[in-house]
Amino acid sequence: MERRVLPHSGLEVAPLCLGTMTFGTPVAQAEAVSLTQRALDLGINFIDTANMYEGYTRRIGSPGGISEEILGQALRGRREQAVVATKVGMKIGPTEADEGLSRAHIRREIERSLARLGTDTIDLYYMHRPYPAVPLEESVGAFQELLAEGKARAWGISNFSAAQTAEVLQVCDANGWRRPAAVQPAYSLLKRDIEQDLLPLCQREELAVIPYQVLQGGVLSGKYQHGEPPPPGSRQVEKPEWTMVLSDELFERLGPIEAEAHARGRTLLQHALLSLLEQPAVVSLIIGVKRVEQIEAAVQALG
Ligand SMILES: NC(=O)c1ccc[n+]([C@@H]2O[C@H](COP(=O)([O-])OP(=O)(O)OC[C@H]3O[C@@H](n4cnc5c(N)ncnc54)[C@H](OP(=O)(O)O)[C@@H]3O)[C@@H](O)[C@H]2O)c1
Repeated sequence: MERRVLPHSGLEVAPLCLGTMTFGTPVAQAEAVSLTQRALDLGINFIDTANMYEGYTRRIGSPGGISEEILGQALRGRREQAVVATKVGMKIGPTEADEGLSRAHIRREIERSLARLGTDTIDLYYMHRPYPAVPLEESVGAFQELLAEGKARAWGISNFSAAQTAEVLQVCDANGWRRPAAVQPAYSLLKRDIEQDLLPLCQREELAVIPYQVLQGGVLSGKYQHGEPPPPGSRQVEKPEWTMVLSDELFERLGPIEAEAHARGRTLLQHALLSLLEQPAVVSLIIGVKRVEQIEAAVQALG
């Protein structure tokens, strides 16, 4: 599979990145290990996790860690084949010290992530969300320490608006610090707001965009039909709050997207992936999968 450069990071990644938010449940450990190894065999060298991920059992303030632990198992003996991204910032415990982007929290959490992943360095370490309660200088400064110590090779930001991203760049430039290499926003053919401001900013500033929920939780795979019940075992059945309501309005929005896919000789899945990759700043798409066939379908969709 093709490799794409993450500017200013020394990292080269596949155009698909394996998402691991479902590791634990519904993807149990043994299946998650096979899925990860199949992804590596197919040439997908980029894997996305977060300290908070623990599958469908996730609730606000639960401790997380399960996805990173499973990924650590899956990468035993193959760590050098993968570019591993993880994140810090979401709530992973009951107290104020268990969330956010203070220096102390970041330093505590990277040690935990390194241990769970069984590695000495995180290839791409993200701020999972903006956290205005802590001065940006403190958070970005802590990330610079991790780069200097070799605990992270590159860093990124997730769920930051265009204005918040510009502020991060300003803080880096003012202090002579390394800028983020990547941003991770939600982006799909059903959720295109970043095209207004964040995408042009990233293109101008050479920041790699690594979108998540590119299939909108499976809605853009083409498996849900208007007026029919969702297929058994699909996310609509098992975890509806992690996808969109199958309303009349949603199918009205899907109509023109399907028509355009058809006009371009693509399946809906192909169109959902290729349209995003055609955007110049987009380097790799995070793809959530529950079964090996889904990762194979994504690889095939890219041709
Ligand atoms: N930075 C953030 O704040 C953030 C937030 C959310 C997610 N993420 C990252 O993005 C990743 C993906 O998120 P996501 O899983 O919510 O979104 P997604 O990629 O849009 O949806 C993935 C789901 O779609 C279904 N699917 C995938 N391929 C399919 C195919 N070929 N045919 C039919 N169904 C298919 C599967 O669900 P079913 O088979 O169960 O229907 C799969 O679990 C996560 O794992 C995580 O790494 C990041």
